[in-house]
Amino acid sequence: MLKRTHNCGQLRLSDDGKDVTLCGWVRSYRDHGNLVFIDLRDRYGLTQLVFNPETNPEIHKIARDLRCEWVIGVKGRVRPRGEGLTNPKLDTGEIEILAHEMEVFNKALTPPFEIDSKSPINEELRLKYRYIDLRGEQMQTIMKIRNRATSIVRQFHQDHGFYEIETPILAKSTPEGARDYLVPSRLAAGSFYALPQSPQLFKQILMVSGMDRYFQVARCFRDEDPRADRQAEFTQIDIEMSFADMDDVMGITEGCFAQVFKEILGVNIQLPLERMTFKDAVDNYGIDRPDTRFGMLLKDISDIAGESTFKVFTTTIGAKGIVKGLCAPGAAVYSRSDIEKTLTNYVAGFGARGLAWFKVTEGEGGSGKDLTSSIAKFFTPEQRQEIIQRFNANVGDLILLIADQKDTTNKALAALRSKLGEDLGLVTDDQYNFLWVVDFPMFEFNKDDNRWQSLHHPFTAPIAEDIDKLESDPGNILSQAYDLVLNGNEVSGGSIRIHQPEVQARVFRLLGITDAMAEERFGFFLDALKYGAPPHGGIAWGLDRLIMLLAGTDNIRDVIAFPKTQRGQCLLSEAPAGVDDKQLDELHIDIRRDAMPD
Ligand code: AMO
Repeated sequence: MLKRTHNCGQLRLSDDGKDVTLCGWVRSYRDHGNLVFIDLRDRYGLTQLVFNPETNPEIHKIARDLRCEWVIGVKGRVRPRGEGLTNPKLDTGEIEILAHEMEVFNKALTPPFEIDSKSPINEELRLKYRYIDLRGEQMQTIMKIRNRATSIVRQFHQDHGFYEIETPILAKSTPEGARDYLVPSRLAAGSFYALPQSPQLFKQILMVSGMDRYFQVARCFRDEDPRADRQAEFTQIDIEMSFADMDDVMGITEGCFAQVFKEILGVNIQLPLERMTFKDAVDNYGIDRPDTRFGMLLKDISDIAGESTFKVFTTTIGAKGIVKGLCAPGAAVYSRSDIEKTLTNYVAGFGARGLAWFKVTEGEGGSGKDLTSSIAKFFTPEQRQEIIQRFNANVGDLILLIADQKDTTNKALAALRSKLGEDLGLVTDDQYNFLWVVDFPMFEFNKDDNRWQSLHHPFTAPIAEDIDKLESDPGNILSQAYDLVLNGNEVSGGSIRIHQPEVQARVFRLLGITDAMAEERFGFFLDALKYGAPPHGGIAWGLDRLIMLLAGTDNIRDVIAFPKTQRGQCLLSEAPAGVDDKQLDELHIDIRRDAMPD
């Protein structure tokens, strides 16, 4: 077998005259009759090969039969490309290899789609033939970024005294709040393992075990509906530290992020990162993962709206709702039907029942500013001026308002703000706005189930001053949790944990987890806390989301070698799939035939 001496991205003009061997895939072929040109591809790049009948008539003949994606090895001599034939876009664009010898390692069927095609390729086809898709430049670049980022993260944590420790995949249900993937036990009939939603409990137990600093590139499994930034099976950079407070965990995390961005994108991230309270985030951006690349902050105008004679507003406020909105710079050019078609319909998708608007125009006689809209008449001139001031609005702006219950209003406005940020060109590709969101409430009240639930997970510690409110005022307890947000994406989340068993027991009680339930679900963990648990805290990064941002893609499947579809399928291996009756038998499982697809 021909053994390669160089790769396809390596050779330069300085190698002129060298005898080399390259191996790879035929990316393209051009048969000019007397000369055959092949672009040979491997992970490292492309190199042009030339077959000349005068050099070796036998391989020239074979070269004429080569087709895309055949795998070959070629021995030849490096030479400069002819005058005017260099390709400045290619690292190897100044040279070519005049082939002397060739070995065809394998033929290939015609690929089902063109690799590196300029037009979009059906994603299902890409996923079914992922090995072909992965050969393309985009996927090769993303895998390179992913490998590099993972290796920087590994090295960074090693350098800061973290041990890389694996935790079980066949485990017990963990508390991240999604549905579990279950694996039936053969040996214990009727018992199931749960695949970990995260290594949360094991990493805390590693702190009890005196491991001091732990990290893992951890696979997590959550049986929830996939979205553009969510996969059922995804990877976290998972971290836990003993005797650490919030500043310690946040300091390590932001240091590592800064290094990844510096090394991969050449971007300098100013440390320490900005911090924003949960309250400010929700008040100003309507969401706990604000995109701070642009302003357009939300303003509550309930006080002004409540005094107006516009029924929709006064009724909403009477029903304990709010009137809140944003001012879109220069958007007064939107026509009424633009607003209705593109914006009102959009916010309706987030539960808003309507979208009121004002255009900011010049005041009468060209003096000052005023608001124009079919609802302007319900506001006195003074109220209109107050609204203009509240939004610091300029002539030509468009003020958009939603009147509804607080949560719906914030959710719809946050979505509208992101959309307008894009539509109005307020975001550019090279902005990386990181910030920490802190001072989260510890609990939120779930009205549907009539019970308190954790905003993060039930092992998150309250701030010390608030512990005494656990029974008396749970809605006003702040937690020691922190989320790292980048351009409106939650890229990491973590917290300082409860390390005292009695506080943990009080939190469970508040969440309606009885002592018996806690014992059954997390007994092993609660026991561990009783055997000398140090104060500890940690964080987990969504590695896939980070790679999406580094690679500039908004599809999480692009950053995973073998991802699942929206329906949780691996189109390449065709998982999930049926199994033999014998296997089911061994697992003591009967399938309900009525539950099977036709
Ligand atoms: P959390 O559930 O917030 O915390 O997850 C941490 C980070 O993981 C990423 N992430 C996901 N990425 C892709 N697909 C998903 N389905 C998905 N779900 C989450 C997000 C998120 O910020 N054990 C805690 C961490 C801790 O407290 O230390 C945990 O898992 O980027």
